[in-house]
Amino acid sequence: MSIKTIILAAGQGTRMRSSRPKVLHEIANKALLQHVYETSLALENNRIFIIYGHGGETVKQTLSSLNATWIEQKQQLGTGHAVQQAIHHVDDPDTVLILYGDVPLLKAQTIQTLLHKVSLTSLALLTVTLDDPTGYGRIVRDKDHAVVKIVEQKDANEAELRISEGNTGILACKGSQLKQWLSRLSNNNAQNEYYLTDIIEMAVEDGLSIETTQASSQDEVSGVNNRSQLAHLERVYQQQQAESLMTQGVTLRDPNRIDVRGEFAALGQDIDVDVNVIFEGVNRIGSHVKIGANCIIKNARIADGVEILANSVIEDSTIGEGSRIGPFARLRPQTELADHVHIGNFVEIKKSTVATGSKINHLSYIGDSEVGAKVNIGAGAITCNYDGVNKFKTIIGDGAFIGSDSQLVAPVTIGKNATIGAGSTITRDTPEDQLTLSRVKQVNVEGWQRPVKGEKE
Ligand code: UD1
Ligand code: CA
Repeated sequence: MSIKTIILAAGQGTRMRSSRPKVLHEIANKALLQHVYETSLALENNRIFIIYGHGGETVKQTLSSLNATWIEQKQQLGTGHAVQQAIHHVDDPDTVLILYGDVPLLKAQTIQTLLHKVSLTSLALLTVTLDDPTGYGRIVRDKDHAVVKIVEQKDANEAELRISEGNTGILACKGSQLKQWLSRLSNNNAQNEYYLTDIIEMAVEDGLSIETTQASSQDEVSGVNNRSQLAHLERVYQQQQAESLMTQGVTLRDPNRIDVRGEFAALGQDIDVDVNVIFEGVNRIGSHVKIGANCIIKNARIADGVEILANSVIEDSTIGEGSRIGPFARLRPQTELADHVHIGNFVEIKKSTVATGSKINHLSYIGDSEVGAKVNIGAGAITCNYDGVNKFKTIIGDGAFIGSDSQLVAPVTIGKNATIGAGSTITRDTPEDQLTLSRVKQVNVEGWQRPVKGEKE
């Protein structure tokens, strides 16, 4: 079976009060339209068409990497008119699936169920029972409970308005039939629009049965029309992520206080996550990893037994087994820590490798460096890697001890097992196994007296 998915995304979304087109607003850092696109990617033998509207060039440009055919609907004359724009791409034997670009939480499973109900004798329609159906098209059924038509809110009579089963807008049917029905649509209704929903009555007249599937929840088929709905669906999405993590064996101290804006390419067992942690991008996390409160972790590879203490920010970094990071540590892109490394509070590391067992525990900046194994970097020691134009490398040999408050002015190499005295400014390479100092000798002034305050008159 060949599927053609048509995603309707030409709506302007005025209620967002935004300069950004509605479908580019994001849930978990991903555009609404991209959520819908990715869900439909789960279908095999599927071609995706996106109907975009006036001013929608930015949508097309922003999401140009999507493997879809973009079709402009110059004027928004209704959902039926929108589908008409793509109909010449549909072949008679195709199954056509209609999705909305602003309904981000629709599940692939629901679509599969819907598609299984499509044949030349049946049209598949996704409906939802609503506490308040205001605004939705109503599903009108006969005495035998068979669907006879959909009536839009603005065209409905009193009895129809009381129907609580609403149209989600999502449906599937055969290409040959859809072509016929679309060619017969008129805009003779309260909104002077070409309603896609009118094909239901035509299908019934043609002797088809309307097979309905109920959405798993109202949120699954909710569209985003304003920022409040966007925020609501973001929370629903995050609850789903939290549930999924717990199912996979992750302890969440509070499932309501975690945000996953991306995915986990690997997830070990017995990971323990404290409150207010944000995961972004693609993370790989080993087993027995503890993550403290308020951490932001983006595109990280974290090996088994790592402990990340509260308030640490980690981006594009690798952390080896049994290492301990934070509290208040910042690992910037291209940081690679080997096993059993300790990075303490107010330490910033950028584009550097740190070998096994080294400790950088307090108030340091290490940039563009290669730090050997078992190195100890004292409090406040920093690499001066930048002259305002160029960046230079610092190499620190195994077993070196960098005294507190030292400055290593790159390019510079510290020999193996070298000791740098506290407060030194190192501008030239230092030999292995020796003590190097560059501080002014201490002077003691004998007989010096502190000034004394005069007695007040
Ligand atoms: C539509 C349905 C209604 C259903 C509701 C669910 C019709 C006539 N009505 O109503 O039965 O309950 O959705 O939310 O289909 N769009 C275009 N081009 C257009 C018009 C719309 O691309 O010319 C897109 C919008 O971007 C949106 C979707 O189609 O993604 C639905 O449009 P919207 O205006 O929200 O439809 P409703 O009138 O709410
Ligand atoms: Ca709508």
